[in-house]
Amino acid sequence: MKTFGFLMISTFLVLFATLLPYCSASTTRRFHFNVEWKKVTRLCHTKQLLTVNGQYPGPAVVVHEGDTVEIKVTNRIAHNTTIHWHGLRQYRSGWADGPAYITQCPIRSKQSYTYRFKVEDQRGTLLWHAHHSWQRASVYGAFIIYPRQPYPFSGSHIQSEIPIILGEWWNDDVDKVEKEMLKTGAGAKVSDAYTLNGLPGPLYPCSTKDTFTANVDAGKTYILRIINAALNNELFFAISNHTLTVVEVDAVYTKPVHTKAIMIAPGQTTTLLLRTNNHLSDGGEFLIAATPYVTSVFPFNNSTTVGFLRYNTNDKTKPANHLNNRRRLTKTTLSTRAVLPDMLDTKFATRFSDSIKSLGSDKYPCKVPTAIDKRVVTTISLNLQNCPENQTCSGYDGKRFFASMNNVSFIRPPISILESYYRKQSRGVFTLDFPEKPPSRFDFTGVNPVSENMNTEFGTKLFEVDFGARLEIVFQGTSFLNVENHPLHVHGHNFFVVGRGFGNFDEEKDPVRYNLVDPPERNTIAVPTGGWAAIRINADNPGVWFIHCHLEQHTSWGLAMGFIVKDGPLPSQTLLRPPRDLPKC
Ligand code: C2O
Repeated sequence: MKTFGFLMISTFLVLFATLLPYCSASTTRRFHFNVEWKKVTRLCHTKQLLTVNGQYPGPAVVVHEGDTVEIKVTNRIAHNTTIHWHGLRQYRSGWADGPAYITQCPIRSKQSYTYRFKVEDQRGTLLWHAHHSWQRASVYGAFIIYPRQPYPFSGSHIQSEIPIILGEWWNDDVDKVEKEMLKTGAGAKVSDAYTLNGLPGPLYPCSTKDTFTANVDAGKTYILRIINAALNNELFFAISNHTLTVVEVDAVYTKPVHTKAIMIAPGQTTTLLLRTNNHLSDGGEFLIAATPYVTSVFPFNNSTTVGFLRYNTNDKTKPANHLNNRRRLTKTTLSTRAVLPDMLDTKFATRFSDSIKSLGSDKYPCKVPTAIDKRVVTTISLNLQNCPENQTCSGYDGKRFFASMNNVSFIRPPISILESYYRKQSRGVFTLDFPEKPPSRFDFTGVNPVSENMNTEFGTKLFEVDFGARLEIVFQGTSFLNVENHPLHVHGHNFFVVGRGFGNFDEEKDPVRYNLVDPPERNTIAVPTGGWAAIRINADNPGVWFIHCHLEQHTSWGLAMGFIVKDGPLPSQTLLRPPRDLPKC
């Protein structure tokens, strides 16, 4: 009897102890971001760099699934700014999404705005970044969500976590780079270096001291959180002599994939398991490297950033087997080529993307819509606009570059679209006539890239769907100017990548081959170069949501659009009221 009672109590305690953190009232986590200039030196070049709290990369936001997050952003510079929580769903809280002139007016100089939202039903690695002009070149950081339930993948104990944010460094002021590009109509100046956690590494001038190093123990399992915060480049990433295991992308678990390298597009995040070698307890050093995956004919920065994975030694009396600087450099130059795929390796990029599938377990089901209410097919394209009279344009052939979706270049309005939608004052701000099919049919991926008329039109066009609509969007690349891989990002929703292919999307044949079982769920898709990608969305988040190419140069040229999800019938399916401190334009 006694024993039984004791058992009852202890069972109760165990249950209580395991459940308590999960059903307790949600925690509010508060952060304060000061957007401010900070003197930073890289490549022997000192400049004022835009940062959050003087940090580059910015501070990591670390929360738990179910938390409410409040991040007060204070603008301590003379320019406008906003911050976007990339991949955070913002259910009903579009006011906190961040893209300037889409869901809010920018935060003006000396003003503050508190982004308040709940983190629900997503877990893993995401990022945050500025969403005003090109500020995200240096204003970015990790956004990490710890799960309520144990990781589905950890058979072994996780020793620790290593966030690695991939970025680009410009010696120039990026604001000037963007302005110059828009003024002349030419392509933008490329960055001077790629970086790992803000550090270019020894292959760049003056950068040996600015090298990222991760110290690890032999025979352990680590979580690597890889984030591509680069402005304009898809990247390959690898660690020499180590196999990486993909377990999550864009804060959604995947079936485990073992690979030597990954391809990661700007805005994408990839969580990897790294199992360190057993026999290196006396030290050892391996390359961590990233280099661009190139599909464009535009000039690009063809350099490589490297850091080191360094094994700790057991024997404190013995110096570690670390290479001296000169030996290291020669070895490094030689071996980066062996570690990373070739910059042009579209085959590798395709195979890798095709290997990613949703975990699709009982606990984490893949909720892909198996039927749809609406299909929107849109070209994603570069354009070559005739130069206005009495002007000189320095794009190709004396014209100027633009980019478009269904041949509309997106113009950001002078006030917030979400606010004007909410107040039912859309006139002069946006229209709901985004074309749901390409305006003309042609061999999208097979046209002669320079002989066609490649002028675009301009507008702030969106389309609208009912709450809960099952939406399919097909992104169709074109060969205007050149075929190119475009990372398309959707705000406010995750989507399922049900199909991808090269050439032209075929409305008859391709949907038959869709993966409606375990397609990857993400927020950013690298649309194959000279091809298409079909995504499906459960449009269940009321508000105004931006869709755009996450190559910042292409967004500046207008490769963007938006969609509106109407309020649902229930009070819990409506857009919240705007917060009191929402910035004004
Ligand atoms: Cu990460 Cu609209 O952006």
